[in-house]
Amino acid sequence: MRRVAALAALLVLGAAPVPANRPVSIDLPFDATLFPDLGRGAPAADAINNNCLACHSAEMVLNQPALTRAEWAAEVTKMRSVYKAPVAPADDAAIIDWLTAMSSRLPAMRSSLSASG
Ligand code: HEC
Repeated sequence: MRRVAALAALLVLGAAPVPANRPVSIDLPFDATLFPDLGRGAPAADAINNNCLACHSAEMVLNQPALTRAEWAAEVTKMRSVYKAPVAPADDAAIIDWLTAMSSRLPAMRSSLSASG
């Protein structure tokens, strides 16, 4: 009899309506799908957007601490040598320029991007 009750309970549970899949929206603290334009007079983001989004997000890079120019250069070298990133050598300078300029604007950029996202 117990077994019958357990089976009945299972049947009732099994027949419970399955909730429909609904889109769920979550708010990430810092949301940038592309490397942003840094504004007038700043290096363009084209080179970094063309070379650095194949494997990870822009956020991942933008959430790093501010680095010096030499440290960013080492980072680009590491992407190429360790992770085999197909970064066009002709784009290195533009990428490193952008990253260095970005680092100097980091606190302001973080707050403006999280406010707009
Ligand atoms: C071929 C794939 C690939 C490409 C393209 C790529 N990366 Fe990465 N990158 C990685 C991997 C893998 C990691 C390590 C991720 C992890 O630890 O979660 C990483 C991590 C990073 C980090 C975090 C710090 C670190 O050293 O782990 C930074 C900053 C970064 N990448 C910048 C760049 C920049 C700038 C470019 C363009 C020049 C670039 N990446 C292109 C694969 C790539």
